Amino acid sequence: MSRPISVHLLPALFEQADLRGGVAVVIDLLRATSTIIHALAAGATSVIPCGEVDEARQLAAQAPSGMVLLGGERGGVRIPGFDLGNSPREYTREVVAGKTLIFTTTNGTRALIRAKEARRVLIGALVNLGALIDLLAEETGPVHLVCAGTEGRITLEDVLCAGAIAHWLNLAVDDADPGDDSTQLALSLFASSGHNYDRAYDDRVLAILRQSRGGRNLIDCGLGADIAVCAEQDKFDIVPELSRDPWEIRVARKRK
Ligand code: MLT
Repeated sequence: MSRPISVHLLPALFEQADLRGGVAVVIDLLRATSTIIHALAAGATSVIPCGEVDEARQLAAQAPSGMVLLGGERGGVRIPGFDLGNSPREYTREVVAGKTLIFTTTNGTRALIRAKEARRVLIGALVNLGALIDLLAEETGPVHLVCAGTEGRITLEDVLCAGAIAHWLNLAVDDADPGDDSTQLALSLFASSGHNYDRAYDDRVLAILRQSRGGRNLIDCGLGADIAVCAEQDKFDIVPELSRDPWEIRVARKRK
């Protein structure tokens, strides 16, 4: 039996029940999923994704003091009263090690919540691409690559990352079926980057990210430096996974 790889260009473009039995990878390359991976790689104990700012504040208020950090953004910038924004550069070992992060972003955490019916919900970005492909190759069943988008609009950066995952997974397993039209679109975008590990490839990926909707928003907010940080491929060997009970993201595996 073949293993369908489906790219969902936006969270609104699938029914939650469509994901049941499959493995979902949620992608918000700029920047929520890249930042979650940075936080856990830097030693944060777990990340609790929240859809709304008030919910995040209430959870933080109930937690033992000194154990949690509030992180996230609205409009790309740190939410008033929060400890951290959504820049991966803020999530250093000194700041987050041993802490639980309560996290809310405009699109990324909402995409995670929408994907919760899948059998497994993994966190994907370019910074953990290789580890993610290893884990997906060992899994069975359909793979759903969920692009977070930006406020209901398709974003090039998420589609590029979905294309990279679809490309490498298709090479890694014999039974992959990347035939879905949206998957073909994502693969074509990734092919335009050349997918070679050389300087020209890195430059082409960066150029696509800078011209993407998410990239343009970051540049407008003065946070353009985050783009290169999120573009660094295979910086980490971890795959975070959303557990439903308790509701939290932890590291599912370290690469062998
Ligand atoms: C989001 O979840 O909307 C993004 O991560 C936005 C951002 O880059 O801060």
